[in-house]
Amino acid sequence: MSGNPPTILVFDSGVGGLTVLAPIRAARPDAHYVYIGDTACFPYGELPEPTLIEQVTTIITEMAERFQPDLIVIACHTASTLVLPELRARLSIPIIGTVPAIKPAAEQSKSKLISVLATQGTVKRDYTATLIRDFAGECEVTLVSASLLAGLAEAVLRGEAVEDAAILHEISPAFVANEDKKTDCIVLACTHYPLLLAAFQRVAPWSVTWIDPAPAIARRVVQLLGEAKTDTATPPRGLALLTDEASWTNALESAFADYGLVRFNGK
Ligand code: DGL
Repeated sequence: MSGNPPTILVFDSGVGGLTVLAPIRAARPDAHYVYIGDTACFPYGELPEPTLIEQVTTIITEMAERFQPDLIVIACHTASTLVLPELRARLSIPIIGTVPAIKPAAEQSKSKLISVLATQGTVKRDYTATLIRDFAGECEVTLVSASLLAGLAEAVLRGEAVEDAAILHEISPAFVANEDKKTDCIVLACTHYPLLLAAFQRVAPWSVTWIDPAPAIARRVVQLLGEAKTDTATPPRGLALLTDEASWTNALESAFADYGLVRFNGK
């Protein structure tokens, strides 16, 4: 790799990938970022698997040609748990996927009751079942398909009001009490959910550790690309492209600006 700052493409089904971009950008503030949110096909959680594989490989191949990234981060669990083999077969650029943080949750849990909060797609993937079998054998794992939660996170970032009751309804099945034990770790297995973390903590029936994979993704980026080499007093602004232009609102543009991204208006 040359000494020039790298270009990193971060991909998600919508705005959730911002939660993955944030720690990557903190670790490599010198890099150029291109954020792609496939809002035209959001939510991915409900898509049939063959459709999702076709959709993600098509869009990533096209965006890789257009922006020539040095590294691609598939920030979406719903996509990563399915399409990484196909993408890696098609592209020679390094690709980092984001998958449910079941291993750290199992390691950190004292009660050995852990829950995985995810989309319907991620909950039913073989990939998720394999992670549980390989890394959480000593735990009782509750898989919670939160079908509305990613949409609620999108709404919050667009500047819409969301009731706490709607959030509690989605997360409450993740809180399990068995005799004298209670769930103590909940895996945030969808990039959108950390956007709602303050609300989760406010409405939670009891306090738990919320496990977010994003810091581990950022460490993996640094492993592959190395530390920042240039002075980053003024980090470059990244570009954000949403596949459905109508998704943009003023509130969303301002939320993206907080992550150092400006709306991409080119073709
Ligand atoms: N952000 C996606 C994930 O990490 C899911 C949201 C969706 O259903 O598109 O799984």
